[in-house]
Amino acid sequence: MKNPQESPFKKGRAIYPGSFDPITNGHVDIIERGLKVFEEIVVAVLENPKKAPLFSTKERVDMIREIFSRQARIRVRSFHGLLVEFARSEGIPVVIRGLRAISDFEYELQMALMNRNLAPDIETFFMMPNVRYSFLSSNLVREVALLGGAVDALVPGLVERKLRDKIAKIKRSKRIPIS
Ligand code: PNS
Repeated sequence: MKNPQESPFKKGRAIYPGSFDPITNGHVDIIERGLKVFEEIVVAVLENPKKAPLFSTKERVDMIREIFSRQARIRVRSFHGLLVEFARSEGIPVVIRGLRAISDFEYELQMALMNRNLAPDIETFFMMPNVRYSFLSSNLVREVALLGGAVDALVPGLVERKLRDKIAKIKRSKRIPIS
């Protein structure tokens, strides 16, 4: 190896898709690990009009962009419809998914095989986050934050601030004025 800093694996591009409502330290860990293997990662934020996310698609994309603003090898996009169609439109044949625990495996396997059925040219690449994030999910972060629990060790600082603002806004809008 000419440059010891250079990973012998690092080449090609990959897509890291998800809802990211919001992005957690577990997602960040997977992205950082992914950068050791791939030259560029496109973080693909699902735009799902049927679900009512806590953060809009734009808010989720903007947060991830800001978190990785100094990392030129990360691009952030939103997508709707089939993931494999998005991957094809980007010309990227690899999808990264994180596996936290055995319990993730069944759903992830189904999704990977369905994607392979739809697009045999696209491979799913599973990565394990640091074990300290094995209990972490965006759903739980939202729930804990909405109930007033501390999430500062679970999400980037920017996300923690945005969660606080968002929850304060929701609480204000639900406040019934006393006449
Ligand atoms: O963060 P999530 O919610 O676990 O991410 C799930 C995601 C966005 C990867 C998955 O729902 C997805 O790929 N949705 C796009 C629609 C699609 O392609 N469905 C068929 C795959 S089985």
